[in-house]
Amino acid sequence: MAYSEKVMDHFANPRNVGEIADADGVGEVGNSKCGDIMKMYIKVNNGVISDVKFKTFGCGAAIATSSMATELIKGKSIDDALKLTNKAVMEALDGLPPVKVHCSVLAEQAIKTAVADYYKRQGIDPEPIVGSMTDCHDFDCES
Ligand code: FES
Repeated sequence: MAYSEKVMDHFANPRNVGEIADADGVGEVGNSKCGDIMKMYIKVNNGVISDVKFKTFGCGAAIATSSMATELIKGKSIDDALKLTNKAVMEALDGLPPVKVHCSVLAEQAIKTAVADYYKRQGIDPEPIVGSMTDCHDFDCES
């Protein structure tokens, strides 16, 4: 299966690349099998993700899914961001080859880990809200 035009566009021109120096939450996840790493920074204002940036050291699909995921959560409430699934990211990109599905899982988990970090910084236990980061299936999460 070839990559969709949207995947190629987000890979070649990724949106929201970079870091947020005064981020309210930072999440880093990695996949031990392929060695790819994704880092997500969020800025939160009144429960809304006012800014988000990412740095991905990984494959083209990981870059495209991070880019699309940031576009999908920017300006959304934290609750909505937590509802974003890897499936929704893939659909927004018009699909991914089966061997690249795990790359989109990394994007979903990077957002959840950044939100968990945001709650931790507020002194709130993130697990009842975000879920356990050890619930990862085919990849490893860094807490
Ligand atoms: Fe590992 Fe894409 S091959 S994230």
